[in-house]
Amino acid sequence: MIYGIGTDVCDVRRIRASLDRHGERFARKVLADGELVTWRARTARWPERGLRYLATRFSAKEAFSKAIGLGMRMPMTWRNCEIAKLPTGQPVIVLHGQLKAWFESKGLRAHVTVTDETDYAASFVVIEFVDYKKEDPP
Ligand SMILES: CC(C)(COP(=O)(O)OP(=O)(O)OC[C@H]1O[C@@H](n2cnc3c(N)ncnc32)[C@H](O)[C@@H]1OP(=O)(O)O)[C@@H](O)C(=O)NCCC(=O)NCCS
Repeated sequence: MIYGIGTDVCDVRRIRASLDRHGERFARKVLADGELVTWRARTARWPERGLRYLATRFSAKEAFSKAIGLGMRMPMTWRNCEIAKLPTGQPVIVLHGQLKAWFESKGLRAHVTVTDETDYAASFVVIEFVDYKKEDPP
């Protein structure tokens, strides 16, 4: 059974402006440790790819925050919601800290997809109940 859905469109130019203004501090606020490693590597090789990576993560985290119905409110935080990758390249949400505990206590599972093109990055998240039984309250 579906618990929630969330979507977000992110203007890549806004992310560029924040990076220009705040430098790596902005990336450190938004990205989990694992994401930060990937962002730094991509940025070192090709800054545009780093920027796009950051924009899609930003958008996926906002979409996730909507899908769980909290927005950017505790226990939802930027850094506790990591968008990792499976070996196939498929993005997957990995949670940390209080957010992980909250999410697991509700018996939820997340699905995410991201995309970007020129000036925009977009994401869509679906949250489902794991092992939902008809008699369970929503
Ligand atoms: C959800 C949130 C991350 C989206 O912010 P944003 O990127 O500025 O705005 P977007 O245009 O992407 O999305 C806005 C839409 O998110 C949806 N939304 C807002 N809060 C939501 C929530 N708790 N759960 C799910 N969806 C939510 C609404 O549909 C809203 O559109 P609407 O106001 O026209 O109905 C942000 O609003 C948030 O963190 N809210 C929680 C904290 C908060 O409420 N702060 C203000 C205190 S008064």
